[in-house]
Amino acid sequence: MCGIVGYVGGKNTVVTLLDGLKRLEYRGYDSAGIAVVRDSALLCVKEKGKVACLEEKITREWPDWMEMTGCTGIAHTRWATHGAPTHDNAHPHMDGKSRFALVHNGIIENYAPLKKRLQEAGCVFKSETDSEVLVHLIAEFYDGDIFQATASALKKVEGTFGVAVISLEQPDTMIVARRGSPIVIGVGKNENIVASDVAAIVAYTQRVIFMDDDDIALVTKDSIDIRNIDNVPVSREVSSIDWSVDAAEKQGYDHFMLKEIFEQPDAVANSIRGRLDKANVSATLSGMNMNPREMAMINRIVIAACGTSMHAGMTGDYYFEDLAGISTQVEQAAEFRYRNPIIEPNTLIIPISQSGETADTLAAVREATNKGATVSAICNAVGSTIARESGRGVYLHAGPEIGVASTKAFTCQVTVLLLMALKLGRGRRMSREAGQQILDEVEQLPELIRQVLKTADDVRRVAEKYADMQDCFFIGRGYLYPVALEGALKLKEISYIHAEGYHAAELKHGPIALLEERVPIIALANDIPGKDKMIGNIQECKARKSPVIATATIGDTDIDGHADDILWIPQCSKFVAPIVTVVALQLFAYYVAAKRGCEIDQPRNLAKSVTVE
Ligand code: AGP
Repeated sequence: MCGIVGYVGGKNTVVTLLDGLKRLEYRGYDSAGIAVVRDSALLCVKEKGKVACLEEKITREWPDWMEMTGCTGIAHTRWATHGAPTHDNAHPHMDGKSRFALVHNGIIENYAPLKKRLQEAGCVFKSETDSEVLVHLIAEFYDGDIFQATASALKKVEGTFGVAVISLEQPDTMIVARRGSPIVIGVGKNENIVASDVAAIVAYTQRVIFMDDDDIALVTKDSIDIRNIDNVPVSREVSSIDWSVDAAEKQGYDHFMLKEIFEQPDAVANSIRGRLDKANVSATLSGMNMNPREMAMINRIVIAACGTSMHAGMTGDYYFEDLAGISTQVEQAAEFRYRNPIIEPNTLIIPISQSGETADTLAAVREATNKGATVSAICNAVGSTIARESGRGVYLHAGPEIGVASTKAFTCQVTVLLLMALKLGRGRRMSREAGQQILDEVEQLPELIRQVLKTADDVRRVAEKYADMQDCFFIGRGYLYPVALEGALKLKEISYIHAEGYHAAELKHGPIALLEERVPIIALANDIPGKDKMIGNIQECKARKSPVIATATIGDTDIDGHADDILWIPQCSKFVAPIVTVVALQLFAYYVAAKRGCEIDQPRNLAKSVTVE
């Protein structure tokens, strides 16, 4: 997704902006650009490709850029939606007289009629983008008041925006605004930095303001004036970010993804911390902001999410029905608002989103809220839009997840879902003894994950043995069925291998036609309920000459002779098996992709947060 950085203060603006863009690279992009106000001129450089390409171009075009201190500037990384990744389509965009420069995240859905009218009025467009419409509208409305010009322009917009604007008219002021696409203001000392993601800010300050939809802020080096789009002043609290800049660095790992895989014992420990209610053999999830009676009234749960977060939600489905006896369904967030969902007052909607900015999941939150449902989100990004609009929920506290392929977020999401099911279950028919078993297993999770991480070299050997495969299936049953889907997603998104996740019983309903010697099967055969049937499925695969890589429980001899290779998993119950087993599959995917020389942290075509429909 696109990234925005803006700076006003005494530091070297170009250095600060480029540093910010580099911290947003993980979000995925295909062009970049920068604009600064300097000596009564609005300068702009942009380039197709990576930030490094932009930096080279800046060095050529602004030889003295190291002396550019104290000026106001904005920068952008673009993930193409309207118009190919080209120089002209890169942001910033400027008006015809180069008085205003603008960067934009989001989609202007009504840009075509706006563009047509502006062209008829004489505006000359240099790009194919929807975003360029905004800067021409601001220039058209400008009559001395940059706030009013920006507000008037944004009122014409149907769609979403996160924008930052600088101008020759007010060279010391940056104007930022948002609707549906995040903008965060970093509150510094004699400087302020804005960005679309905290990762670009946290190196400068941990004090941040999360803007709300239709907020517009006038930002100078020593003032932040936030009003709503109708020019009414609004007050927004200053939050403190709970992680440091080095948490967003690689710390010696080859990739962020590998670092985040190995962070999982600590990340899961952080998700658990302070949430085990041992006295009541339950969980403490104050963020849900529901009293026992309100929780007891819940008679249905709907989980809405995308991608990996949806796979976590599918595990939650098993938990809520098995442990709490609450009817639960998992919705593709992209479908939710279009399928006229049945939502009743006692329906609990649980949106799950690592970034808290996924457009489809946010839309599901809004649909549910408009129908009067109780919404309790599970997010990782503190202060994210989904977290704030849900009004209640549980943060993962997993720390920043930079790798596009989600790893620690998944294990922490499933852990939080298990704690939620424990909480709800203990408010219903779950006994103290059953609850104690869950508490004990949750407490062991960090150690169980460490045990899997210790097998990394073994996993790597197996992964490299199969790294040249072109097609494969991941199969699982019961609690491990969502993990099979997640394992396939991990492998396909970073190695570009065609990996499919299936319920093991489904193979014989069609997919088994594809099995042959060149199509390996990753079969999740841990010693939990369903294992015997799983071994039967493995035999079906072997009969079609597919090589089988099985996950199996350490010490379980039933698997002997059935698999070509085994990824050993420590003994644990069906409840925590998804969290422990997925770590082996994450490692498998990572080492296959590494062997294939893939771009692991920023896979082609992917973005870390899909903030557009
Ligand atoms: C997972 O590896 C992918 N990066 C993707 O499926 C991701 O889980 C999905 O886009 C949802 O993102 P979210 O959790 O931030 O909402």
